[in-house]
Amino acid sequence: MNPKAHEPASLPVPEPIALAQSEALAATLRAEVAAAGGWLPFDRYMERTLYAPGLGYYSGGARKFGLFADDGSDFVTAPEMSPLFAATLARAVGEALAASGTRALMEFGAGTGRLAAGVMLALEALGVPFDSYAIVDLSGELRERQRETIAQLAPHLAARVQWLDALPAQFEGVVIGNEVLDAMPVRLFARKDAVWHERGVSVNMEVNGGGALQFSDRPAMSGLDADWTQSVPGSVLAQIEGSEDYVTETHEAALAFTRTICTMLVRGAAIFIDYGFPHGEYYHAQRVQGTLMCHYRHRAHGDPFLYPGLQDITAHVEFSGIAQAGVEAGADLLGYTSQARFLMNAGITEVLGEIDPHDAARFLPAANAVQKLVSESEMGELFKVIAFSRGIDATIAAFARGDRSHTL
Ligand SMILES: C[S@@+](CC[C@H](N)C(=O)[O-])C[C@H]1O[C@@H](n2cnc3c(N)ncnc32)[C@H](O)[C@@H]1O
Repeated sequence: MNPKAHEPASLPVPEPIALAQSEALAATLRAEVAAAGGWLPFDRYMERTLYAPGLGYYSGGARKFGLFADDGSDFVTAPEMSPLFAATLARAVGEALAASGTRALMEFGAGTGRLAAGVMLALEALGVPFDSYAIVDLSGELRERQRETIAQLAPHLAARVQWLDALPAQFEGVVIGNEVLDAMPVRLFARKDAVWHERGVSVNMEVNGGGALQFSDRPAMSGLDADWTQSVPGSVLAQIEGSEDYVTETHEAALAFTRTICTMLVRGAAIFIDYGFPHGEYYHAQRVQGTLMCHYRHRAHGDPFLYPGLQDITAHVEFSGIAQAGVEAGADLLGYTSQARFLMNAGITEVLGEIDPHDAARFLPAANAVQKLVSESEMGELFKVIAFSRGIDATIAAFARGDRSHTL
């Protein structure tokens, strides 16, 4: 996902049935705000709008992933853009399986199932043995879509796939997750007149008859409070230079997730691909508006209260925190680099070279997709790859050149 920002007013209006579903979610959110005393932290709001059973964006039947707004989708991800992404990632996955002597895969947030099918097919073609492919997704609704995609694209491998409702205590193998960390709820903070506030959600009863959900700031704990400066938000915010007005996010859910994965992983690797920056860039004094972003019909804007449950809400990933969380949980940092560098190192040009250039109908779209995946002005630089490992002595080829771990 990487569309240009738009004014909410210029976005297409959803169908009446979708609007009714969104209004049903908004009503439950207004009730939840009231029950909480008039104010909800933003991470709770984001969690409900994305994952509330039957009504949230990822659990309420929206089409989500696709190439065009006309098909009812909201954004495109790398595995949807081209099978070359999965085929190239599989080369790194295969190397990590071999280096750790493991034969199991686990994917988080598997979307339509295209990445799962593509990785399994490529591993098979590369002759890398694997026994199982577990999928973990908060969205039960997507399971059916994943099952259909895998049955269609890789029917002979479907028996190796299983969907997990709970994580095992220990896992030996390779974990992957594309654009999963950015879908985890964030807390919002706003510095106003040099004082930090937590930005949450309240209901403005003067709008809309039943009331409208809106941002509401309340002072965060004092910078002098010892607990506050040692907490995740306090320690992060205290380091942001300057005193001008500033809005940003903190990522407790993504940090907890990383700790869980890196604790569970007793042998193998975990590879996450997403858009974001290291700490210094993320919390740069000039990034005054944070990175919260909403996606609706392939357009990006900044209003999380528009059509709750019908649009995606994301924030960029702060990779220094992710690296620290994984290492504190006992894993090694295997590598951190740009998506462009990772894919080039893993051999995306060789994967492209397997397509006959005289077969223009196949070659040209594939070459075009490779360009989007690695170009600095498209996904190549904004997207990063971070990987953790246990029981792998050397690094893998995908991080052999251009590793940026020192920038974290
Ligand atoms: C932006 S989509 C990416 C889908 C897919 N990986 C792709 O690249 O097309 C984010 C996915 O992450 C899932 N997700 C978010 N938090 C998760 C968690 N804690 N565990 C498992 N899946 C999660 C969502 O349900 C959703 O399917």
